[in-house]
Amino acid sequence: MNGVTVEPAAGPAEPLRPGDQPVPARDDRNWMLSPDQQARLEAAIVEWLLPSLAAILDRPEAETAARATEATADFFPLYRGRPIRNNKGGGLINDSLCLYLVARLLQPATIVESGSYQGHSAWLLRQACPAAEIVTFDVRPEQLRHREPDIDYRAGDWSEAALPAFDPARTLVWFDDHISHARRLVEARRRGFRHALFDDNFDAYSLYATGGAPVPTLAMTIDRGLADGEEIVWMRHGKTYRYRVDGAACSAARAAIEAYHPLPDLSPITRYSPASGMTYARIAP
Ligand SMILES: C[S@@+](CC[C@H](N)C(=O)[O-])C[C@H]1O[C@@H](n2cnc3c(N)ncnc32)[C@H](O)[C@@H]1O
Repeated sequence: MNGVTVEPAAGPAEPLRPGDQPVPARDDRNWMLSPDQQARLEAAIVEWLLPSLAAILDRPEAETAARATEATADFFPLYRGRPIRNNKGGGLINDSLCLYLVARLLQPATIVESGSYQGHSAWLLRQACPAAEIVTFDVRPEQLRHREPDIDYRAGDWSEAALPAFDPARTLVWFDDHISHARRLVEARRRGFRHALFDDNFDAYSLYATGGAPVPTLAMTIDRGLADGEEIVWMRHGKTYRYRVDGAACSAARAAIEAYHPLPDLSPITRYSPASGMTYARIAP
């Protein structure tokens, strides 16, 4: 015996709600229950993310640490009570934590999301920024399963849509739609945004890690090892994909990046499923 006792499972941690899928997400039943060890987990998370969070805020780490600690402690009970129990195909716990922290620490007055999917990340953004005006877009709105009363859910692509008046310095645009990062960056710059967050930012050599890779990704736009016209070929789930590097698109996007801060993957700390390359870009005016 190794001294570990096991209590019988009491069923799902939270009751299923109408419309929930019966299969819990992979990360859903694995939690630290000892308060002291949970506090150590949260401290390790903050230590891991702090340099990136401080860089995103453009503030000293010492000034950012207390806010990040408080926000990380608030995240866990929130996440355990989330309305979308199974967000397979969307953000899981590590990505959700990064999104929550960036939004909560930046405290934008306006948030635009592209890629509502089932509504999980919009719900999370509302928890992080209770007073923000939030507009979320999806070209397949029929997938939406959770609506917040005061979020503006729109069908379609964001690029031509009218937006509420916003202060660029206090606005966050969050792209989780698998559309070319280079295209999204240029669109966000044209519309005057300063703070942008992108999911699925993978290097050219690991594009197999995501379905519908948003090429050229942010990482590819700043990759001097890529040649204009080079063909990149990769396989995901047995299907072959090809992309020919568009040097002009990469240069236009590169010119729009003032600061670039990928958030480090939390899985070495939390041991939850790997994150998907969430990256912050401060957009040049
Ligand atoms: C990875 S899911 C988003 C996950 C979601 N943010 C979450 O974690 O809760 C990607 C979504 O982008 C949507 N999408 C694809 N093309 C789009 C476009 N041009 N504009 C907006 N949404 C788009 C898809 O329909 C899909 O629902």
